Amino acid sequence: MYFKHPDEKVVGFFRSTTPELIIRDPEIIKKILISDFSYFYGRGFHPYKRNIEKLIQNLFFVEGDLWKMLRIQMTPAFTSGKLKAMFPLIVERAENLQQRTLLAVKKNLPIDARELTARFTTDFIGACGFGLDKIQKKVQNEIDEVLKKHDNKLSYAAVKEMTCLEWTFKEAMRIFPSLDYLIRECTRKYIFEDLGFSIDEGVKMMISVAALHKDPKYWHNPEEFRPERFSREEFTNVKKDVYLVFGDGPRVCIGARLGLMQSLAGLAAILSKFSFTPAPERVRRPPVVPTSDIVQNINVIPLMFHERH
Ligand code: HEM
Repeated sequence: MYFKHPDEKVVGFFRSTTPELIIRDPEIIKKILISDFSYFYGRGFHPYKRNIEKLIQNLFFVEGDLWKMLRIQMTPAFTSGKLKAMFPLIVERAENLQQRTLLAVKKNLPIDARELTARFTTDFIGACGFGLDKIQKKVQNEIDEVLKKHDNKLSYAAVKEMTCLEWTFKEAMRIFPSLDYLIRECTRKYIFEDLGFSIDEGVKMMISVAALHKDPKYWHNPEEFRPERFSREEFTNVKKDVYLVFGDGPRVCIGARLGLMQSLAGLAAILSKFSFTPAPERVRRPPVVPTSDIVQNINVIPLMFHERH
């Protein structure tokens, strides 16, 4: 629907009998996520209003005062000091990942990169399997050089130096963001002044991260896998609020830094010891499982791993 209306800033539709809006325009996205957040602080799941499973009564799903209280309580757990302190644990897990991969390589069978990386982290770092085929060597050279400088040990400081790896990860997440779309629910009457209409409490806003990440208006040749888009020189020219892999505003992903750093550590651990090639049965664009609602899900990414010598 995003691509069907290239000239519209917002597009309305009905989900059954409920009106919703797709927000296409980056300026309006910025208002909803950041400056007018006080109108859009919910995601509209209301788990505590209905009697829903306790486990999903967490920061992602709750809203209002409960969200505010939890967010304030949890924020200190995600400072960079805490992240550095917990990094040895991440490295330990990354080394386990190497061991697991080695066991599978010995059998010379394809490995499902999605399953492998999900064991390390629930995030979808398997997405990096896209397009790495060519760029892989460059990333590995960088990892080798950085590790050599750091006594061949993975650490927070070493991972921070792996810029090419970081661009590659970000490019993979552009092509295949974990969250296909962001949601915000309007919590009181809101007027779109430039557009001349208003919406009532309860209307949901959908921000299609996947579509914004592929819109040729913002990305030159969006289908091309090109990590250099994320170099400082190029990325400063990308319009703000069209790269939303971690969301934005007060409800931005609380674990963004942790998610980034642990994903890079996992990838560095694998790529320092193994190379991979697509398994014969791998498809270029694996279909997304339509029943997965929040985190985009695909069944398998079969890759052949080879030990580097
Ligand atoms: C690569 C890894 C990750 C990605 C791509 C990711 C992505 C996202 C996105 C897109 C959102 C929604 C943001 C919005 O609506 O504006 C989100 C929210 C959230 N994420 Fe992450 N995330 C990652 C890792 C993590 C980690 C490691 C944690 C915690 C340990 C975490 C905890 C959360 C929480 C609690 C929220 C809800 C925040 C709130 O509503 O206040 N995420 N994440």
